[in-house]
Amino acid sequence: MRLSRYFMPVLKETPAEAQIASHRLMLRAGMIRQASAGIYSWLPLGLKVLRRLEQIVHEEQQRAGHLPMLMPTIQSADLWKESGRYEDYGKEMLRITDRHDRDMLYGPTNEELITDIFRRDVGSYKQLPLTLYHIQWKFRDEVRPRFGVMRGREFLMKDGYNFDLTKEDAMHAYNRHMVTYLRTYERMGLKAIPMRADSGPIGGENTHEFLVLADTGESEVFYDSAVTDLSLGARDVDYDDVDQCRAIMQEFTTPYARTDETHDEATFAEVPEDRRKTARGIEVGQIFYFGTKYSEPMGATVQGPDGKPVPVHMGSHGIGVSRLVGALIEANHDENGIIWPESVAPYGVSIVNLKQGNTDTDRVCEELYATLGKAGIEVLYDDREERAGTKFATADLMGAPWRITVGPRGLKDGVVELTSRRTGDAQTLDPQAAVERLKDIFTGL
Ligand SMILES: Nc1ncnc2c1ncn2[C@@H]1O[C@H](COP(=O)(O)OP(=O)(O)OP(=O)(O)O)[C@@H](O)[C@H]1O
Ligand SMILES: [Mg+2]
Repeated sequence: MRLSRYFMPVLKETPAEAQIASHRLMLRAGMIRQASAGIYSWLPLGLKVLRRLEQIVHEEQQRAGHLPMLMPTIQSADLWKESGRYEDYGKEMLRITDRHDRDMLYGPTNEELITDIFRRDVGSYKQLPLTLYHIQWKFRDEVRPRFGVMRGREFLMKDGYNFDLTKEDAMHAYNRHMVTYLRTYERMGLKAIPMRADSGPIGGENTHEFLVLADTGESEVFYDSAVTDLSLGARDVDYDDVDQCRAIMQEFTTPYARTDETHDEATFAEVPEDRRKTARGIEVGQIFYFGTKYSEPMGATVQGPDGKPVPVHMGSHGIGVSRLVGALIEANHDENGIIWPESVAPYGVSIVNLKQGNTDTDRVCEELYATLGKAGIEVLYDDREERAGTKFATADLMGAPWRITVGPRGLKDGVVELTSRRTGDAQTLDPQAAVERLKDIFTGL
């Protein structure tokens, strides 16, 4: 992309309404604009990040055999009356009446709708296990929408639902989801800690939230610092292997880690004092096992091996995709702007042409732009007639992890500068060598 043709409306001043860094930077970098309280338009740069996150979520879900689908945003109230949640959900649910006076709602979550799909078309235990998921906009009429996309009213969520014959099978689905989530966040360059949590209106007893530690997080968390040393890394996971998935779940949930809702002082006191940490965290996902809470009242049964109908055991699993954009920025920024991890960067490389209109710099920039593009690396080329200072500021704000600076002085010696946004370390090297370095960095992400 050439910046001269892009739509990235950068704000020079700090927007007064934004209280936290991610909100400020998303507005300043022209990623989002507020449409109304807690509702945002995603401008091209913001959308690009959102799509990258969606892509990682899709890949990790499908790796585990979970099937993508798409349910609507608007649901009929009838199903919610069947499950008993229509009244329970309260004011957070946006209720709508259509022209025929039918009660509709903008879905805050999809347990009822998916259970209805299941009960209509699945009749036998032989069709299990089954896990379906989608990535779709949700609406919750939050009392206090704030912090930009972190607590919006309309937000993008991945939500998935497993259907199993027995509790044991459903617990495997639970553990399998935990592994897919750990891998998803790691691929995004985030450390998200699974913490024992409270189930809220979804229901059920087995539930973990995934929290990213950040001072601006809304949850108070208590944990054994040993949990932050854990990582899935490159290990091979067989998602059908019940023991392996359980072992990983146990590895990550044995050290004490809880949100304030389930925190227990006496158990926490058993953690060695130097490892006892209290902090704040951003909830970026949650997994639940809730058994037959929906299948029973809604009659979602299958014929078991003995021919008798049994209600299926279910769980649901959510990732806050749009909230993650904010969480990623909270975890990766400095006073000049965003510092994207390579795996989620909207553009991997910024090219800064120090002397637009100079035959040599223009030619080298064009060559770099074309070669990197061919290598599948997305580049934002700052080809505007602007001062170097302005171009550097824009590159820093936008946060591409790598910047190539091309100036007439360097080109006299046949070199350009390759700078890491994170460390500020700069190397001078010939353009071809810069391309090779970047190829090494970006392949296999
Ligand atoms: N208002 C919101 N804005 C943005 N993301 C949200 C919002 N509410 C929930 N999410 C995201 O969707 C994920 C799954 O939804 P879930 O039902 O667990 O939310 P929740 O527990 O009600 O969230 P919270 O406690 O933050 O209100 C959450 O982990 C979170 O990342
Ligand atoms: Mg939650």
